[in-house]
Amino acid sequence: MSSGRNAGRRAILHAWLAAGLTGAAGGALAQAGGARLAPTPSCGDEARPTARQTEGPFYSAGPPERSDFRRDAPGEPMALVGLVLDTRCRAVAGARVDLWHTDRDGHYDNHGYRLRGYQLTDEQGRFGFETIVPGLYPGRTRHFHVKVARPGGRVLTTQLYFPGEPGNARDFIFDERLLMEVREGAGGRIGRFDLVVA
Ligand SMILES: [Fe+2]
Repeated sequence: MSSGRNAGRRAILHAWLAAGLTGAAGGALAQAGGARLAPTPSCGDEARPTARQTEGPFYSAGPPERSDFRRDAPGEPMALVGLVLDTRCRAVAGARVDLWHTDRDGHYDNHGYRLRGYQLTDEQGRFGFETIVPGLYPGRTRHFHVKVARPGGRVLTTQLYFPGEPGNARDFIFDERLLMEVREGAGGRIGRFDLVVA
């Protein structure tokens, strides 16, 4: 993996994180790599909490606070970005976003914290992970696992999915409400999903 690719992806992620979001309350817009991401599908004046899904058998309690997983395992680079919003579409600062997923071969690290970690949203409710595209394992389509909680709030556990993935139609856990917006950036894929917490 060249440092140029890394620098490009970091630049995109930082640009996204630095971009002024046009009113999280009115439908957030973000600039990423010069292209406009669609308004978040989950927010108008009011939003339903993000759908809950099973944690599955591979969550490891007590992950470290970290947002860059790229050195954990080889793979296709991917950024996962979004906002944490409340049901009135207001950004939630200091929310905890916990991400875990497989390596490119579909294996979880069940002994350590590779491809696992959490971060807190910034004052504008934003989070951004730099990681790799997860692989596939039997019975499941491609997915990320996420837990999110506002400060002092109840933990919402869910999973995020990839548009156009052939396995989506065959996975009985798959929920199209949990599809990320995924686009190709200069340094890899950028997945966006805004998490709504009650
Ligand atoms: Fe999983």
